[in-house]
Amino acid sequence: MEYPEIRNLVALKMSADPKRWRHVEGTVRMAEKLALCNHVDCNKAMIASVLHDATKGEPDEMLLMRIHRQFGSFRVENYPRKIWHAVAGVDYAKEDIGINDSDILNAILFHTTGRENMSILEKIVFVSDYLEETRAYADIALRKQAYVDLDKTVEAILKRKKEYVESLHCKAVSLGSDMAFTDSLSEKGGN
Ligand SMILES: [Fe+2]
Ligand SMILES: [Fe+2]
Repeated sequence: MEYPEIRNLVALKMSADPKRWRHVEGTVRMAEKLALCNHVDCNKAMIASVLHDATKGEPDEMLLMRIHRQFGSFRVENYPRKIWHAVAGVDYAKEDIGINDSDILNAILFHTTGRENMSILEKIVFVSDYLEETRAYADIALRKQAYVDLDKTVEAILKRKKEYVESLHCKAVSLGSDMAFTDSLSEKGGN
């Protein structure tokens, strides 16, 4: 499936939530620009970013069905509900859209938490999700820095997210280094 068709499907899926769709569109725009700056395939960046929050409005039962279908061993109870959509998003991308590119799937999977040794595509989606133009909290200087130094920007966002998660006492989340995701994906033939 090509990008315009995927975009139309996600737009339809999110039609009841225009604010979330504007965020997705902002993420796609920023990811496309970052892909150009970092010599990454723009089409892949746009596909990964348009899909990153596709399951966010789905009911818990649907998210859990998707998570268990792709990651049978995933200990969902150890993770805040806020990140379920990233895990379930892999299932949507694979089963509903037919994506098999592991880089795109990992970019969706890690868009909220990040992880160590992210690919450039993963970094682009992670950064764009956090800093795109509709994010009211986004630091303008950090947004500008993203186009100059992607790695520094990833570090800054991870630092901020860790503080946020710690403030919520979500100690079960080990931001940036949860290999359980990666193992589950490769077990399921995510390459
Ligand atoms: Fe998200
Ligand atoms: Fe997002």
